[in-house]
Amino acid sequence: MILVTGATGHFGNATINFLLEKGVRADEILALVRTPQSGEDFKAKGVGVVMGDYDNYASLVSAFKGVDKLLFISGSDLTKRLTQHENVINAAKEAGVKHLVYTSFQRKDETESSPLWMVAQSHIQTEKWIKESGIDYTILKNNLYLDFLPGFIGEKVLETGVIYAPAENGKVGAVLRSEMAEAAASILATTNHEGKEYNFTNNEALSYQEIAETISAVTGKTINYISPTAEDYGNTLAKYGVPAEVIGIFSSFAVAQAKGELDGESTDLEKLLGRKPLSIKDFLTNLYSPKI
Ligand SMILES: NC(=O)c1ccc[n+]([C@@H]2O[C@H](COP(=O)([O-])OP(=O)(O)OC[C@H]3O[C@@H](n4cnc5c(N)ncnc54)[C@H](OP(=O)(O)O)[C@@H]3O)[C@@H](O)[C@H]2O)c1
Repeated sequence: MILVTGATGHFGNATINFLLEKGVRADEILALVRTPQSGEDFKAKGVGVVMGDYDNYASLVSAFKGVDKLLFISGSDLTKRLTQHENVINAAKEAGVKHLVYTSFQRKDETESSPLWMVAQSHIQTEKWIKESGIDYTILKNNLYLDFLPGFIGEKVLETGVIYAPAENGKVGAVLRSEMAEAAASILATTNHEGKEYNFTNNEALSYQEIAETISAVTGKTINYISPTAEDYGNTLAKYGVPAEVIGIFSSFAVAQAKGELDGESTDLEKLLGRKPLSIKDFLTNLYSPKI
């Protein structure tokens, strides 16, 4: 039996659909949901539904009973994530889960001085707990979702003609979230992934300069890349009324990119998908090509 947590979210839901596409029987799959209503779509497909909340340890133990493989999708609430993840791993152990697959995050700097410490801290600790638990595991080191790249580039880039981010010449190996989910489904549907860590990053990482050049070539409009200091970046966005919290997240990712935190390149996904993941250049071409 395969259980997918975060089943109502983008990653979990896509993974369940890919499992079905790969021929895993619906009655071999369980979706973990937080409310009865959110289980209806899964039931309609014949997928089993169990209730559980990362904040409620007993609910997790009960949901994980009889589960062989657990896709543990990291929680979305950074303020509660450590306790929630501890609950999931302890519950998996108590319930006798045999193999735990965890959606982690790619990073190099594992110290508090990392610009992405607010994200990385709980992933580093979670991986440690998973390895100490004795449960067979597979760690997915996810790069940035490619789906989020337009937000970092700026939704109005074609009007402003500028990509503005303190990322210097750092590169990002972003990958479509759906392709990460497809690869996760492949891991769950096949064998010999125990003890492995996969880099869910693109085959080729790009800098914002290269991204600007690609968009220029696709649209025929000149797009310039400006890399300010993080301080100037924050001040400029604040002048436009962007909330401090949002500035903090965008700034942290850009500074991390400048430091080479996101520039991973790997063929792990290509091997799991059986094809190259959508390249960043092709993604940009599809997105920015003039529509007829
Ligand atoms: N690599 C990246 O660029 C990137 C970007 C953003 C996030 N992430 C991480 O990747 C994860 C999956 O991404 P996603 O796009 O699928 O996120 P998403 O669409 O926001 O889905 C999050 C899922 O987690 C569930 N969840 C949240 N709190 C929970 C709790 N207390 N107990 C049980 N389930 C809970 C949600 O359930 P409900 O529907 O009930 O709320 C939802 O199913 C995120 O949670 C985050 O940790 C990675």
